[in-house]
Amino acid sequence: MEFLELMSISHRYMEILNPSTSEKIIKLGKLLKLKKGKRVIDFGCGCAEPLTLWAEEFGITGIGIDISGDFCDRARKKLAAKGLSDQIEIACSPAADYIFEEGAFDAATCIGATFAFGGYQQTVRAMKRAIHQHGRLGIGETHWLSNLVHPQYAQEQITTHTESELAQFTRSEGLELECIIRASNDDWDRYVSDSWQGLIRWLEENPTHPDSEQVFKHYRRDQDDYLQFQRQYMGWAMYCLAPVESHSTGSHLQE
Ligand SMILES: C[S@@+](CC[C@H](N)C(=O)[O-])C[C@H]1O[C@@H](n2cnc3c(N)ncnc32)[C@H](O)[C@@H]1O
Repeated sequence: MEFLELMSISHRYMEILNPSTSEKIIKLGKLLKLKKGKRVIDFGCGCAEPLTLWAEEFGITGIGIDISGDFCDRARKKLAAKGLSDQIEIACSPAADYIFEEGAFDAATCIGATFAFGGYQQTVRAMKRAIHQHGRLGIGETHWLSNLVHPQYAQEQITTHTESELAQFTRSEGLELECIIRASNDDWDRYVSDSWQGLIRWLEENPTHPDSEQVFKHYRRDQDDYLQFQRQYMGWAMYCLAPVESHSTGSHLQE
């Protein structure tokens, strides 16, 4: 079974496919200065819950890009059911291959999918081409909570950084880290529990499926990773990145 199929199974009971909430996604929308008629491009949009919330709350238009046919179908059905198909378009494509109109968007977002571009900094670099000079970026990303991360786990998570490193990457791309909206432990517990529930229900429904052992192993590994490492060492947050004319390049730590 391919990774995307496993993801469809583990994320089948979720609309927000991240450790976040509707309230926090709407808060990100406010920070991104979304208003009626603003255009948003969302890379790795999943089932388009963030775009749906922003369309309902702020009246935006936009486009969501996702590699998963299953999530794109779910997104399109939801948008149609809510009467939002004219406002939000869904493109089924790898994010890095999608050709967009440069400078045409008020905000570009990538919530929990920076791996689609190869990491945080590459994502900022790609997304800033989509926005005009006063546009903002919204990025959902993991970070290390401590520098005492278990070495075995750190080795497997090579694209995770400290928040200080994320701020440095942001600045080196000519933007400033304006705001953080942090996931709570409850947000993480909700996200991983929904995922385990999706996997366990599928196993109950498909006891003789040829891939059931793989699905069970995936569930166990995901749970062990979370309980042994992630909960202790890894955080997740959404960042709002803004264009600010720079006034000084020095760090106070070096003065
Ligand atoms: C953690 S989910 C986040 C979904 C959504 N942003 C949300 O917050 O609900 C990551 C998403 O990235 C998508 N994805 C993975 N690799 C991708 C790629 N190369 N290009 C576009 N989307 C990708 C997955 O299909 C999945 O929907």
